[in-house]
Amino acid sequence: MINPRLDSLNDYPFARLRGLLGSVTPPAGIEPAVMSVGEPQHEPPPFVAEILAANAAIWNKYPPVDGTPDFRRAIADWLTRRYRLAPGRIDPDRHVLPLSGTREGLFMVGLLATARRKNGKAPVALIPNPFYQAYLGAATMAGAETRFLPSDRRNDFLPDLDGVDAETLVRTAMAFICTPSNPEGAVASVDYLKHALDLARRNDIVLAVDECYAEIYGATPPPGALEATTEGDDFANLLVFHSLSKRSSVPGLRSGFVAGDANLIAAFKRLRDYSAASVPGPVQAASAALWREESHVQANRTLYRAKFDAAERIIGKRLGFYRPDGGFYLWLDVGDGEAAAKRLWAEAAIRVMPGAYLARTDEAGRNPGQRFIRVALVHKPDAVETALKRLVKVL
Ligand SMILES: Cc1ncc(COP(=O)(O)O)c(C=O)c1O
Repeated sequence: MINPRLDSLNDYPFARLRGLLGSVTPPAGIEPAVMSVGEPQHEPPPFVAEILAANAAIWNKYPPVDGTPDFRRAIADWLTRRYRLAPGRIDPDRHVLPLSGTREGLFMVGLLATARRKNGKAPVALIPNPFYQAYLGAATMAGAETRFLPSDRRNDFLPDLDGVDAETLVRTAMAFICTPSNPEGAVASVDYLKHALDLARRNDIVLAVDECYAEIYGATPPPGALEATTEGDDFANLLVFHSLSKRSSVPGLRSGFVAGDANLIAAFKRLRDYSAASVPGPVQAASAALWREESHVQANRTLYRAKFDAAERIIGKRLGFYRPDGGFYLWLDVGDGEAAAKRLWAEAAIRVMPGAYLARTDEAGRNPGQRFIRVALVHKPDAVETALKRLVKVL
């Protein structure tokens, strides 16, 4: 009765973490610090609630799947500003499609990009390792074979696309890249993205670039894959995914978008006409306002920077600490991520994610996340500082 492809998916990392920590009791009298989930806890701007209330009259309307013209325009204008694109290159009607958060879009791109055969063979999806789990769900449920590309220190935590053999490339239907990456916070350069896009175009691959952490960075705004395109190429083969969840601290709003190749966007819309995961009308109105507003995003970045300052002060050179170029995670080398997660919960009431749960074990039995824990700096700076002091005492 149940699609057997589901069996090849692990339990989702949060379910695995509940299993790991289920029998562990945190110490009494300490406020637990949940740092396992990348769920921003900063205050969203008050105008979100105001706009939702002001648009209450349209809750009884089915929202347009492709978004209101105003919402698409706000997205196109933001992309143009953020990635310094020539005015008019992004056509809100051809290059942009709203999503109910990027996760559903990253899942659905699997259905969009996976034919039964690619060049006569079973299709393949390239996935960085470690990776955001929706990529695996997308590939598996669409019936693609998965190839995991190790992303470790040796390749600056970015998958080595040149390491993919020619036979696999011929079969590759889609390739996922995450920049800034979750969990490592690595940022791909424009050259890296150009190279990836060139590879995708030469091999007829859909390049899905997850940029949902694009607005959370240290000194320099991370480049986006749209910057790897040129005037007149119509963003061929490229889809970029963006979200308000991290940028505006509204993970509960479920609002994001996909942009890029006009043919792919048109097909994506057709797919979503059937799956109907459309963004509710009031949410579209609030989202348009959020994409047009920058001061709350700057305030967010200031808070994250203060937390990384605190982490640098408190952890110093221990645990392989480094300050990521983007995103809001610490990726700490603790030797054995599962053991560290258990100890942190048992001894300090801190919940972190073992790196192994965010990665796949390869044929040689090596899991690139095994030595690591991922620590999400999503709470208010004071709470993060207190928790990190407890963390270093335990580890
Ligand atoms: C790398 C990455 N991509 C996508 C998402 C999904 O974000 P959302 O669906 O809230 O836009 C997340 C959420 O944690 C993520 O870490």
